[in-house]
Amino acid sequence: MRRLRRSESMRALVRETTLEPGDLIYPLFLCPGEGVRREVGSMPGVFQLSIDEAVREAEGAAALGIGGLLFFGLPESKDEEGTGAWDQNGIVQQGLRAIKNSTAAKKLVLIADVCLCEYTSHGHCGIIAETAEGWTVKNDPTLDLLAKTGASLALAGADVIAPSDMMDGRVGAIRTALDIAGCEDTPILSYASKFASAFYGPFREAADSAPQFGDRKSYQMDGANIREAMREIDLDLGEGTDMILMKPAMPYLDVIRAARERVDVPIGAYQVSGEYSMLQAAFAKGWLDRDRAILESLLGIRRAGADFAVTYFAKDAAKLLA
Ligand code: PBG
Repeated sequence: MRRLRRSESMRALVRETTLEPGDLIYPLFLCPGEGVRREVGSMPGVFQLSIDEAVREAEGAAALGIGGLLFFGLPESKDEEGTGAWDQNGIVQQGLRAIKNSTAAKKLVLIADVCLCEYTSHGHCGIIAETAEGWTVKNDPTLDLLAKTGASLALAGADVIAPSDMMDGRVGAIRTALDIAGCEDTPILSYASKFASAFYGPFREAADSAPQFGDRKSYQMDGANIREAMREIDLDLGEGTDMILMKPAMPYLDVIRAARERVDVPIGAYQVSGEYSMLQAAFAKGWLDRDRAILESLLGIRRAGADFAVTYFAKDAAKLLA
C-alpha cells in the first residue's frame, strides 16, 4: 500500500475525496445598527454583523470562492409569534436586499434559514400553548407563519429557502407559499434530519435564540434514531424539498452516509456551532494543529457523503485550500 503514498503528487493522484471552497457555505448573523461587529463569546472569530459589515463579509467570501452564505437574524424586538421573521423590513430581508445588490451576490448562493426561534420572545421554533401537561409547540398553526416567512425571504432575494424548525409538513407549506408568491423557481433546502443536540449551544448565544423554558426535544429528533432520520428525509422529499441538510455533522456522520446511499438529491451537512467551538478551544490551548484539524473535519463530512458543508470555518478553510 505504501507505494502509492510515497509523494504528495502520488497521494494527490489517488485521492478519493475532494474539498473545495465552492463546497463551503458560510453562516452570517445579521443585527441592527451600523458598523457593528460584535464577537460571539463562545465562538471566537464569529461576529454579529450589521448589514454594512455583512456586505463587506459577503465580498470577502466571494473573493475566496466560497459557495454561499446562510443568513440568520437578530431582530430589533421579539414577540410571542415571531412577527420579525416575515416582516418585509425584517433584519434578514433588509440584509438580503443589500447583499443582492452587491457584486458578491453574483458569485454566491444566498440561503435564508427559516425558523421562528430567533424572533419569538420564548425562543421556541413555533407557536406555544399551555395544555394540562404544560406547554406545547403547536404544529399546524406554526406552518402558516413559516410559509409566510419563506415567501417573504424569497421575495427579498434569497436564492434558497432553508427551513430548520422541524415542524411536520413545513416543506409542503413553504413550497405552496413560494409558488403563490411567484417564487416557483426558488428551491428549498430542508434541514431534513436535525437532531436535538447539545452542540447548538454556542449558536443560541450567537443568534440569541435559547428557549426560555423547556427544550426542543418535542420537535427536533432523538439522537439515537437513524431509521427515523430516513423517514424525515423521505417525507421532506415527498413534500418537494430540492436538497436536504443534515445536522449536526461530526456526531452523525453515519446518518449522512445512510442518507447518501438512500437518496440522489444534493446533500449538505452542517458543522454546527459546538463542533466549531470545541475545535477553537483546543486550538487556543495549543492541543490541536489548527490548519490540519479544520481541513480534516471538513473532509470527513465530504467523505461521509455530503456534497457541501455549512461551516463557521468557511473562510479559514477556503484560505487554506487556495
Ligand atoms: C434554528 C437553528 C439552530 C441552528 C440552526 N438553525 C438552533 C437550534 O435549533 O436551536 C444551529 C446551528 C448551529 O449550532 O451552528 N432553529
